[in-house]
Amino acid sequence: MCGIVAYVGPRDAQPILLDALGRLEYRGYDSAGLAILNGHGVQVRKKSGRIEELAKACRAKPVEGRSGISHTRWATHGAPTDANAHPHLDASGKLALVHNGVIENYLELKDRLAKAGHKFASDTDTEILAHLVGDCFSQNQEKGEVRLIEAVRKALKQVQGTLGIAVIHSDLPGLVVGARRGSPLVIGVGNGENFLASDTQALAPYTNRVVILQDQEIVALHADRFEVASPLGQKADVRVEEIENGVTASDKGPHPHFMLKEIHEQAETVRNAFRGRLDADEATAKLGGLNLSSEDLRRVERIFVLGCGTALHAGMVGKYLIETLAKIPVDTQHASEFRYGDSPVHEKTLFFAVSQSGETADTLGALREAKRRGFRCLGICNNVSSTIARESDGGVYMHAGPEIGVAATKSFTSQVVIFTLLGLLLGRQRSLSAAHGREILEALDKLPDQILALLQESASIQRAATAYAKARSMLFLGRLANFPIALEGALKMKEVTYIHAEGYPSAELKHGVIALIDKETPSVLIATQDGVYDKNLGSLQEIKARGGPVLAVAHGDDAKVAGLADVVFRVPRTHELVQPILNVIPLQLFSYHMAVTLGRDVDKPRNLAKSVTVE
Ligand code: AGP
Ligand code: GLU
Repeated sequence: MCGIVAYVGPRDAQPILLDALGRLEYRGYDSAGLAILNGHGVQVRKKSGRIEELAKACRAKPVEGRSGISHTRWATHGAPTDANAHPHLDASGKLALVHNGVIENYLELKDRLAKAGHKFASDTDTEILAHLVGDCFSQNQEKGEVRLIEAVRKALKQVQGTLGIAVIHSDLPGLVVGARRGSPLVIGVGNGENFLASDTQALAPYTNRVVILQDQEIVALHADRFEVASPLGQKADVRVEEIENGVTASDKGPHPHFMLKEIHEQAETVRNAFRGRLDADEATAKLGGLNLSSEDLRRVERIFVLGCGTALHAGMVGKYLIETLAKIPVDTQHASEFRYGDSPVHEKTLFFAVSQSGETADTLGALREAKRRGFRCLGICNNVSSTIARESDGGVYMHAGPEIGVAATKSFTSQVVIFTLLGLLLGRQRSLSAAHGREILEALDKLPDQILALLQESASIQRAATAYAKARSMLFLGRLANFPIALEGALKMKEVTYIHAEGYPSAELKHGVIALIDKETPSVLIATQDGVYDKNLGSLQEIKARGGPVLAVAHGDDAKVAGLADVVFRVPRTHELVQPILNVIPLQLFSYHMAVTLGRDVDKPRNLAKSVTVE
């Protein structure tokens, strides 16, 4: 979790660090800090709260200096206070360190250091690491920059856990040492200046030339050069890549929040997910990135989808799509559960790891476990330079552009489009007819325009949000492929409004959940006309009979639902298998408008972070 930025160059470091850190705030935002080297040693500014609080502190008491490190935190060890914010200093006060991740054996190390006389100023695991590196530095006999690099290397040998770190020492101005184990770090290569950051987005205005640090590598960064070395100290080969990551893509445009912007982008992002991937002649999909031949794909007998949160919900829609179109049994599992469980897996299984960020620690761990067991594992990612994208055996990129709102929206619909393409491709290699395949292709092709039409409903959804904003608890109900849509609707509601919400298969109501229904508890029921439409009408009646308000997602011309429900979120009609992509959009808008009505911090809800790079 969290974001790291470091700078070495001829310019004043403070404004650069603050600006670049702001671009990473989506990764974690409970406190922030920076440390800059100048003639007066290491100068630290840190504050709990948003980066703006840090910026205020820096405006009040600016620090000058040409190299520095900075951090935006998502607390794992210790409350989000000023003292726990990074950077942390070592015992000498000359070394400062920022850290992304978790030091699992920090208590053991703390104990050892405390016995040697170390005193600590925070509750974090990170401060222990700072002291440990400082200790190694003071014991090292090496001279110059090697002394710090070796201290980092020696300290990391004693540490268990995940980390991305950046370290400076006042005896070595103009040097930043970075290292990664599990957490991502990229070097930004500038002209006469260099950067280190948790992702490329932070660096967009400064350079488009980056080096993705490989796991376990250590980098020594100067203004005019950098050296990357393996954990054993051998010089590593580096590849400078060019990244397309314009700043403008990160702007909100006319929208007050990134979440709304990203909901509105879906006409375009859904198109990007299928652009160039439809094969009208063969009524199938083309997914070259899978790196699998037709023969390989035909041999697949089972599919296993791993992911967390929204990404897993997309996988659950994917299960329905692949099982229906290709008749291949699909298992879905929370990545965190798979990673540590004993789930038996059929030998001819193809794995998919789904992740917008491509950095989610649970998903990455599950991917590595699947690969360790000898399975081929493909990634469905948005972030092209991410760890999951690089470690998977192939996959499909979403091409959705940066998703900044912490609540995932456009990445979900892109993921579901990709599963539709997978279902189509695998189906057409098996029993799916060309006619049926063509129906799916046509439905996909019409989606962008239908999404644009649907977005026109935003004002009526906003009215419903105002009317129901006082709800303390909500139910989201759907069947079959719309069950994961209900789960996703409930997750969005929880994340951005803090209202308790549960997603259930509609039929589960009568098995206990119905006890919750009363006039204060609205139910959002997905009831578009499909094979289970009549069943959904039954559920609607059951709720109404118990005095519960119903907000139904239904086709615009559905008079029956309109006559029964308190509110209708109207959606255009499409192929039954493609319909979930349209059905989720009013639920995204509903949570968004509820959150705005309630005055919530929509893009950065409390306690969350965009990229969950800790377990
Ligand atoms: C979605 O709104 C959530 N913020 C969260 O559930 C997210 O989908 C999950 O953490 C997985 O993230 P990823 O797609 O980047 O792996
Ligand atoms: N474990 C560290 C802390 O709680 C780092 C958390 C982070 O990655 O932001 O301070």
